[in-house]
Amino acid sequence: MSGKFIVFEGVEGAGKTTQIHKTANWLQSWCGKDRSVFITREPGGTKLGRQIRQLLLEDPDTWVSNRTELLLYGADRAQHVESVIRPQLDRGDIVLCDRFTDSTIAYQGYGRGFDRDEIDRVNQLATGGLQSDLTFWLDLDVKIGLQRVLSRGKPDRMELATLDFHQRVRQGYQELANIYPNRIIRIDADRSESVIQIEIQSILMQIDWIDFSGLT
Ligand code: TMP
Repeated sequence: MSGKFIVFEGVEGAGKTTQIHKTANWLQSWCGKDRSVFITREPGGTKLGRQIRQLLLEDPDTWVSNRTELLLYGADRAQHVESVIRPQLDRGDIVLCDRFTDSTIAYQGYGRGFDRDEIDRVNQLATGGLQSDLTFWLDLDVKIGLQRVLSRGKPDRMELATLDFHQRVRQGYQELANIYPNRIIRIDADRSESVIQIEIQSILMQIDWIDFSGLT
């Protein structure tokens, strides 16, 4: 049995982390006897990746060139795919990942202005062609998301980018969802956590690669 790869994407403060945990708990209760449900994230899903995450996000005063930024996200992904995601999928697990290749297209492509070809080359090198089976794009007005992030504490280097940058990122997700309607599903994230989770569950119940036969 090969595993399945589900990714959660969105602008800052869209609520991915909450939804990924709720989804994992729910999936585990249905699939737990057949397969494991595994949560991971980018950047930072490996030991090396946590160091890369720190370099990328946690020191807003260090200048990072756009090219370096793109390659560091790529390096984090290469390590993550090879040492964590592929092995979990080979075991037949359901892998839930907080951000993946579409983040690079949205942030470094639409946000920073890299050509789609350049981004695709980095993503291809990092993933060997691995794509999500399904991506939930939690769509939220960037001002609302950034306000949430600021109310939580000190913003990181990406969160400190301009409003324009974050608006381009959101636009990038919108265009990706238009291009890949079967893979990327837009979820309106400007609703309560429980309503969002119910929608995610109902979408997952419609796909045929998870056995919900015990569900009443
Ligand atoms: P988060 O894990 O808290 O969402 O933060 C990760 C940050 O890194 C977020 O600002 C998005 C950014 N990012 C990119 O710019 N490109 C990428 O490829 C990935 C995975 C994340």
